[in-house]
Parts: sequence; structure tokens; C-alpha cells
Amino acid sequence: MTGLAARLAARIARDGPISIADYMQACLHDPDDGYYAAHPRLGADGDFITAPHVSQMFGELLGLWAADVWAGLGRPARLRLVEMGPGDGTLMADLRRAARAAPGFLEAAEIWLVETSAPLAARQRQVLGESGISWAASLEAVPGGAPLILIANELLDCLPIRQAVAGLEGWRERLVGCDPEGRLCFMHGAAPERVLPVAPPGSVIEWSTALEAFGGAVGARLCRDGGAALFLDYGRDTAELGDTLQALRAHRKESPLAHPGAADLTAHVDFPAFTAAARAAGARVSEITRQGDFLWSLGIGLRAQVLAAARPEAAETLSAQTERLIGPRAMGGLFKVVALWRDGPAPPGLIEAVLHG
Ligand SMILES: C[S@@+](CC[C@H](N)C(=O)[O-])C[C@H]1O[C@@H](n2cnc3c(N)ncnc32)[C@H](O)[C@@H]1O
Repeated sequence: MTGLAARLAARIARDGPISIADYMQACLHDPDDGYYAAHPRLGADGDFITAPHVSQMFGELLGLWAADVWAGLGRPARLRLVEMGPGDGTLMADLRRAARAAPGFLEAAEIWLVETSAPLAARQRQVLGESGISWAASLEAVPGGAPLILIANELLDCLPIRQAVAGLEGWRERLVGCDPEGRLCFMHGAAPERVLPVAPPGSVIEWSTALEAFGGAVGARLCRDGGAALFLDYGRDTAELGDTLQALRAHRKESPLAHPGAADLTAHVDFPAFTAAARAAGARVSEITRQGDFLWSLGIGLRAQVLAAARPEAAETLSAQTERLIGPRAMGGLFKVVALWRDGPAPPGLIEAVLHG
């Protein structure tokens, strides 16, 4: 065992088993060996691809969405256009190019990229240049005092989760410990402090205090400064049981314990918990919508036709890319979209969630 695995094993031997959340935090953000902190590999020749890598249409449509939100806000002379977790900068490059179609929007927009990964921030500088862009390590570090339009694709799935497993005597938290040979293994700890529903033995339940805190923080920020935030991610639209912790390395799923720090580690986003936290902070929230329906209502079908007419030789590729982004059995169904905002009707492509009860 080397690197982060050895250091985690030593920590567990010294202090006892750690929560899944602590394990995720170390695997993704350990300053020396964390996946994003030290060696993120995004893209076709890396560990995974995201929607902006599938097609330029994704970022372009989000650019038009942002410009439309700005128009709905009354075209303020100044706004903060924030992307959180911008990866290799592809989404923002496509977004900016398409948003030029809205006169005045980019002139009003102060662009902020919120990024915790130094290697990815360096990549974003290469792809986007530095002119007119500022970087911050957290949303709190982005100055207030102007409306916010925030976009985040595949950020929420990186936020640490905790898990518990149901037994005959109730829930036990799932922890990462070491087996007798000193290798990392899953094990059961004490009953979690949170009240959890009754479920058959063997069921796994997940929750994320980081996700809930972030939903509350974005909701509060929108209530203060106005504007809207859009989140796209793979996750659930109703409360569900199940173990969704997943490690991806070189486009293959592997055990989350196999290569700590060398694989991307994610979990399905609990969108109902996220929107509930934002709503509790005072924001309006949209229905949790499938990515396919959202992109279709923004006009991806038309955009694909225009691109295919300009490049007939690429028509087949464009059709496959569109299918991947919106197909119900592809990203279109697995990925969900929600918006949070302060005033007025729901942003384009979404409808406001009705609060029952
Ligand atoms: C899966 S990548 C998504 C990249 C990009 N949005 C895309 O669609 O290609 C996750 C991104 O979120 C960043 N990230 C992870 N945790 C973060 C956090 N707590 N705050 C801000 N960025 C974070 C990563 O460094 C990376 O840029």
C-alpha cells in the first residue's frame, strides 16, 4: 500500500474507522494525493467525460439560458456570472461563445470561477485566458452586492455523503476501517445520530450534510443578492434507498476503496434534500426535471439541426451526441436539473415546484 491508502490506514489504526464523508473528502481533496487536488484527469483520455465534453451544444444552451435569466432580471448593468466546479473550462468556453448572441450580457457579466483544484484552475486559465475572469475557492469568496447567475454541472455529486446500513436492530453507520491485514474495508459503526426511516435489513441509506449546507448557503445568497442558480447532476428526484457511492478510473467503475485518490469518487445527488434546504433558506425552487426534458425545452433539437445543416458530414455524430445528452436511458434520464431563484417566474426550461402539505 502506498500514498493516500497507506496514510489513511495509518490514520484509521491510530484514530479508528472514519465516515464515508471523511473518506471522500480525503480521496478528492487531500492536498498531496487527493483526486482533484493533485491529479484530476477529465476528458476522453482521462477517467470520465461530462456533458460539455459530449457536445458543445450543452454549454451553448446554458449560455443562452443565462442570458435569458439576465433579460428576465431586467438586464441589470452588473451581475456576477459564477460557474462552480468548472472542470477543464469547456463549459464556460461554449457558454461565453453562445452568450455573445445576447447584446450587453457579457459586458454586464463579471465572470467568477469557483474552483478548489489548483491543476484544474491552471487548465481553465489556459482554455479561457484570464481577461475578465476571476477565480475563488468558495462561493463565500465571490463578492456580493450584485445579482448572481450561477451554473454548476457535476459539482454536487462530489460533495461528501454518509451512509448507514439497516440491520435487525436498526441502522448502523457504514464506515471505512482496516481488515486484519491492514487493508481498507467497509465496516459498521454506531447508530447514526440522525433519525432515519424504517427499512428492511441490508438496505443502505445516504445523506449529505455538506449538500444540505450548500443548498442553504446558495438559497440565502440568492435571497440577499437576487438572481438564479442552476444545478445539473446525476441523482434522484425522490427519496430512495441504495448505495450509490461510485469510483471511476479510466472510464471504468471500480471499488471506491481500490485506489483512494487515483479515482473520481461520487454519489448520486439527493435533489429533494438539496432543494428543501434552499427553500428553507428562502429561495424559490423548481421541480426536479430530467436533463433531457430541460435541454429539449431550451431547443437542443433545433440547435442540432442548425449544426448538422452547417456540417452535413457530422450529422450522424451530432445525432449520437444529442441522444447521449437527452436520451431517457442515457444522461437525459439519469441526470436531473434544478434551479433556485429569488423573484418572479421560474427560469427558462423549468417550472416552479408546488409545496404540498
Ligand atoms: C466532475 S468535475 C465537473 C467539471 C465541469 N463542471 C464539467 O461539467 O465538465 C467536478 C468539478 O468540481 C470541482 N470541485 C469539487 N469539489 C468542489 C468544491 N467543494 N468546491 C468547488 N469546486 C469543487 C472539481 O475540481 C471539478 O472542477
